[in-house]
Amino acid sequence: MQTIIARSLLNLKKNLKNLKKNQKVGLVPTMGCIHDGHLELIKKSKKLKYFTVVTIFVNPAQFNNQNDLKKYPSQEKKDLEILKKYDVDLVFFPKAKQMYPLGYSTYIKEINFSDILCGKYRKNHFSGVLTIVLKLFLIVKPYAAFFGEKDFQQLFLIKKMVKDLNLGVKIIGIPTVRDSNGLALSSRNKLLNAKGLDIAKQIYLNIKKIQYLDYKYAKDLELYLKKKLKKSGLNDIEYLEIRNSNNLLHPKKVVKGKTLRVFIAVYVDGVRLIDNYKLN
Ligand code: PAF
Repeated sequence: MQTIIARSLLNLKKNLKNLKKNQKVGLVPTMGCIHDGHLELIKKSKKLKYFTVVTIFVNPAQFNNQNDLKKYPSQEKKDLEILKKYDVDLVFFPKAKQMYPLGYSTYIKEINFSDILCGKYRKNHFSGVLTIVLKLFLIVKPYAAFFGEKDFQQLFLIKKMVKDLNLGVKIIGIPTVRDSNGLALSSRNKLLNAKGLDIAKQIYLNIKKIQYLDYKYAKDLELYLKKKLKKSGLNDIEYLEIRNSNNLLHPKKVVKGKTLRVFIAVYVDGVRLIDNYKLN
């Protein structure tokens, strides 16, 4: 089947209206610069035989820093070629004016988990994410939506919003896809040069080792890891924290089998990278 391209809400709705009654829709929201991480989400949706809708929208509401928004990479033509190759059923390119028309003033606010980890350093970031995701859910009305575990806090908050607001959308989290050096795939990796990529790979090389380390207290393990990362050239760590995957609480002690996860945000050559890794 040919990939449908919708550039307006009207066109999108018209195309979704034509779907058969029992056809389930799988939504893959993205900000473009499609990479293998996105493709895993798409492949899963296609495998489940959903009518797969990919949205490409660099959402201004989730950027607290205008420079970061300006720098965010985009490659519309290439993205379309890739999405067609992967038989995506529909690609939606909303315009900022349509999603946030003049006078727009309604935002989602989650009050318990949005100001920790990434939210501590990116004011209102998750409000922007939840707002656009909810809008896309209301517009596309998907049966299921797919998100990567690389943005673990985002996935956690979207699941929470769906539960809290009884949205009835099935949220499917997909494990982080990494390059051959272990670096978590992200559109932002495109902003790094060879030297930056070489430093960035140290994130995973170091955090994957921690399952073999024996530390009693989370704080001590965090300090140890930060030192290790700094030694490998990652000087600009925004945060490195161990948290429980189920409730994002910070544990006092590192107890094995406790679904603990290390979360990290670090700047490499001014590019903000995040990752997380489950402790064994
Ligand atoms: O993860 C992303 O790319 C974005 O935060 C999302 C979910 C597409 C919302 O803009």
